[in-house]
Amino acid sequence: MQPLNHESFRHVSRLKRTLPKWLIHWISTMRICFRKMTCVLLTSSSLISIFSLFYLLSPIEPMDYKQRDLFTFSSTNVTILLWHWPFGKPYSLSADVCLEQYGYHGCLLVDNRSWFLRADLVVFHNRELVSGQQRLPLNSSRPPGQRWVWMSLESPENSGNLEGLECHFSYVMTYRRDADITIPYGELVPKEANNDSTVDARLPMNKTFQACWVVSNYSKRHYRSTVYKQLKKVINVKVYGKATKNPLDAESLLPTISHCYFYLAFENSISRDYITEKFWRNALLGGAVPVVLGPPREQYEAVAPKDSFIHVDDFSSINELGEFLKNLTVDKERYATYFAWKHQYSVKLHTDWRERLCSICSHRHK
Ligand SMILES: *[C@@H]1O[C@H](CO)[C@@H](O)[C@H](O)[C@H]1NC(C)=O
Ligand SMILES: *[C@@H]1O[C@H](CO)[C@@H](O)[C@H](O)[C@H]1NC(C)=O
Ligand SMILES: *[C@@H]1O[C@H](CO)[C@@H](O)[C@H](O)[C@H]1NC(C)=O
Ligand SMILES: *[C@@H]1O[C@H](CO)[C@@H](O)[C@H](O)[C@H]1NC(C)=O
Ligand SMILES: *[C@@H]1O[C@H](CO)[C@@H](O)[C@H](O)[C@H]1NC(C)=O
Ligand SMILES: *[C@@H]1O[C@H](CO)[C@@H](O)[C@H](O)[C@H]1NC(C)=O
Ligand SMILES: *[C@@H]1O[C@H](CO)[C@@H](O)[C@H](O)[C@H]1NC(C)=O
Repeated sequence: MQPLNHESFRHVSRLKRTLPKWLIHWISTMRICFRKMTCVLLTSSSLISIFSLFYLLSPIEPMDYKQRDLFTFSSTNVTILLWHWPFGKPYSLSADVCLEQYGYHGCLLVDNRSWFLRADLVVFHNRELVSGQQRLPLNSSRPPGQRWVWMSLESPENSGNLEGLECHFSYVMTYRRDADITIPYGELVPKEANNDSTVDARLPMNKTFQACWVVSNYSKRHYRSTVYKQLKKVINVKVYGKATKNPLDAESLLPTISHCYFYLAFENSISRDYITEKFWRNALLGGAVPVVLGPPREQYEAVAPKDSFIHVDDFSSINELGEFLKNLTVDKERYATYFAWKHQYSVKLHTDWRERLCSICSHRHK
C-alpha cells in the first residue's frame, strides 16, 4: 500500500468537516487501492454491508422529524402507544377506534409493544409504575422524537412514590387544568353540542332525604368525616357505600341519590383541581345539589357555574352550613335555582380510557 498523496489528503481533510469518519476512511482506502482486485472486492463488500446496516437501522416508516412535534404538526398521523392498561384492565382497540368511536382523525391508538419504535407518544399509567407491576422501557433505545406521557387521575397524595420517574416524561396527563393534556373526571357541555337524549332538564324534586353521602373508605383521619359528624347533628344525612351496611350497586346509585336534596361530594384528598366523579356523576348527574369539600371555590367555578354547588368553605361553621341546607329544603324556589345550569348544560362524564387517550390528538394544533 502506498501512503496517501497530498492531493487526496487535502481532499479528505476538506471532506472531514462534513462526512462521517467511516466514509472518509472508505474514500481514502478507495484512493489507495482501487486498482487492486482484492481491494475492489473488499471495498464493494464493505459498501454493501454499510448500506444493509443503514437499511436495518433506519426507522420502519421514514419520518420527517420536523413534523414530529406533537404540538406543532398538523397533517401527519399520530401514533399513541399505551404501554400498559390502567389497573390491568384491557379494552379492545380496533384499527380506527379514535375516529370511529370518538371522531379524532389521524390518531392511531395501539397497545401492542411491537409498535415501540414507531410510536410518536408512549403513555404510561402511574399506578402500575409506582407499584412495580410495570417498568419504563429504559433498556430499549427510545427513537428520536418519541415523547413519553405520564398519566394519572389520582391526587398527589395518592400517587405513591414517584422517585426515579422524574426525568423521563415530556408530557403530563392528569385532571389538572394546567396539565399538558387535561383529562377531567367530567365536564359541563353546552346543550346544543350534546345531543344525548337521556339528558333530563326537569328538576329532580321527588325528595325523601335531606342529604346523602356515599363513602367507600371511612377514616376518622379524613377531614370529611369530621364535617359529616358535625353536619348530621343539624340535618339528616343518609350514608351509603362500602363503608356502611348500605352498599349501593352501580344501577341503584343514581336513582337513590335523586331522592336526596343534597349530595355530600367530599373528596378524599384536598388537591388543586381534584374534582372527581363524586361531583360530576353522583351529585350533578344524580340530581342532588352538590355540597363540596375539596379545592377552593374558584377551582369549582372554573368548571361549573357558581350557583350549581354549595361549598363547605362558604360558611363560617358546619353548623351554619347545616342550617342553610335545612332552610333550602323548605324554600323550593331558592332550591330550584341550583339547577339553573340544566337549561344550558348537560353533564358529560369521562370514564373511558380509550377516549382519554384519543383526546391527546386534539392537542396537536396547540
Ligand atoms: C393516516 O392514516 C390514515 C388512516 O389510517 C391513512 O389512510 C393515511 O394515509 C395516513 N396518512 C399519513 C400521512 O400517514
Ligand atoms: C403484536 O404485534 C406483533 C407484530 O405485529 C404480532 O406478532 C403479535 O401477535 C401482536 N401481539 C398481540 C398481543 O396482538
Ligand atoms: C427490557 O426490560 C424489560 C423489562 O424490564 C424486558 O421485558 C425486556 O426484555 C428488556 N429488553 C431488552 C432489549 O433487554
Ligand atoms: C340532535 O338529534 C336530533 C334528533 O335525534 C337531530 O335531528 C339533530 O340534528 C341533532 N342535533 C345535533 C346538533 O346533532
Ligand atoms: C317519588 O319516589 C317514590 C319512591 O321511590 C316513588 O314511588 C314515586 O313514584 C316517585 N314519584 C314521582 C312523581 O316520581
Ligand atoms: C383509606 O383512607 C386511609 C386514610 O387516608 C388510607 O390510608 C387508605 O389507604 C385508604 N384505603 C383505600 C382502600 O383507599
Ligand atoms: C334559616 O332560616 C331562618 C328562618 O327563615 C333564618 O332566620 C336563618 O337565618 C336561616 N339560616 C341560614 C343559615 O340561612
